[in-house]
Amino acid sequence: MGAKLELIKNDANIERLLKSSRDLIARDFKKSSLEFITDDENGVIGNGKMLRSRMAFRIGPVAGTESETLIHAATAIEMIHTASLLHDDVIDGGQMRRSAPSFWVERGIPGAILLGDFLLFKALDIICQAESGLTHPMVKFVGEMCMAESEQELVQRGDSITWDDCVNVARHKTGSLFAFIGYASAANDHELRDALTEAGYAVGTAYQLADDIMDAKGSPENSGKTLGTDGARNINTAMSFVDGEHRVNPVNSVKETLSAAEGLLSPWPEVLEAWHVYMEKDMWPSMSQMLGIKEEWRNTPGKPAD
Ligand code: IPE
Ligand code: MG
Repeated sequence: MGAKLELIKNDANIERLLKSSRDLIARDFKKSSLEFITDDENGVIGNGKMLRSRMAFRIGPVAGTESETLIHAATAIEMIHTASLLHDDVIDGGQMRRSAPSFWVERGIPGAILLGDFLLFKALDIICQAESGLTHPMVKFVGEMCMAESEQELVQRGDSITWDDCVNVARHKTGSLFAFIGYASAANDHELRDALTEAGYAVGTAYQLADDIMDAKGSPENSGKTLGTDGARNINTAMSFVDGEHRVNPVNSVKETLSAAEGLLSPWPEVLEAWHVYMEKDMWPSMSQMLGIKEEWRNTPGKPAD
């Protein structure tokens, strides 16, 4: 397994896997009238940070899943994530995404809705092609994401919620796709699969809490997307708890959630090492930028906490 760790520490290898994922998308769209969505410049898929795919490619090889399965799982999840953002920008009125005008701004609301629907079903097609037993789990995890989005809009918007409700929405609306990646990363070991699923939920929850903070306090230049839409639409987020009676420090919550994820993996030292590589190379650079902080994601042992 040591050789696998060397492989996942090698950024060129991660880029190669990301390219295989882009090639899989391009193969399916090639010569179709919708080929333009995979273009480097105008494409809507595969031009983000690819944090979900990177998690699969950093952890999955060490946790025992074949590259082909990982590529199919990561590709399907990036398509679903993209679909959710195509729809989300329409809902939020977000004009910018990934430092460019949002798809609906360029191509219209009907096109954004239709393309989102198409990507959802294309993702199902891709995960079915893997024949890995992952189709039904993926449907369940994606269903959780849609349910949390609906709950946030139809039940919680404009109402008062508890901190637990807020964390629960973050866990399901964003955690569930990362949880699926954790699930897909551990093919044969059910205990590890459960731990990585839970670690995925935790890292996704932390990511959403960081996104909530950025929406209120970040800069559009750094984020590359329209900010302030949660407040404008009366969406309850982590920022609803910064002031008032049940005061919460969301940055501390992000770090605590990340520590909890790390703790879950301690029985598997090599997977834990892969997790650290993912946190240090991929996830924390994005998250610390979202939070506008320079500190580390975990407190160095022996060093006093901030
Ligand atoms: C995006 O939610 C949709 C999902 C997570 C499913 P947000 O509205 O919180 O995300 P951004 O800030 O627009 O990226
Ligand atoms: Mg949004």
